[in-house]
Amino acid sequence: MERSLILLKPDCIQRRLMGRVIARFEDKGLNIIAMKMMRVTPELAKKHYAEHVQKEWYPTLEGFITGGPIVAAVVEGLEAIRVVRDMLGATSGLKAAAGTIRGDFSSSRQMNLVHGSDGPDAAAREIALYFREDEICAGELTLRPWLRAADE
Ligand code: CDP
Ligand code: MG
Repeated sequence: MERSLILLKPDCIQRRLMGRVIARFEDKGLNIIAMKMMRVTPELAKKHYAEHVQKEWYPTLEGFITGGPIVAAVVEGLEAIRVVRDMLGATSGLKAAAGTIRGDFSSSRQMNLVHGSDGPDAAAREIALYFREDEICAGELTLRPWLRAADE
């Protein structure tokens, strides 16, 4: 089982797409094991996007991600990190394949609605930025036997 940090970015909240995006993750069979609405501070933005802080477009990204409430969540499932990234699609909504979240709902490179961790190290680092260990509600959901075989 893997965990991935999801952020519903400010555009997702402002456009009233929270429910539809969360429903896609639920429909896929991922377990949502933590969730909260919050504001990203400039300090948190710089930690979250540490790999991008030096980029010339970082200031506008920080303005965007701190510009309204977000919803942070931890999802858990088999290969959850790749599965979530595949569900998001390419970074730019203009390039993301139809059928992906960004491909279906975004026409922007920046306002692409949802963040998902890009690897196991990033996931562990990002989850710790947004959640304390006691905020994560892990545990088997009763539906599991109807989502996949016991040996998967
Ligand atoms: O989110 P993802 O891993 O697909 O993309 P990234 O290349 O790691 O960039 C992180 C985020 O920065 C993107 O999701 C966009 O919201 C934003 N971005 C931007 O504002 N301008 C760019 N030229 C590229 C990315
Ligand atoms: Mg990235």
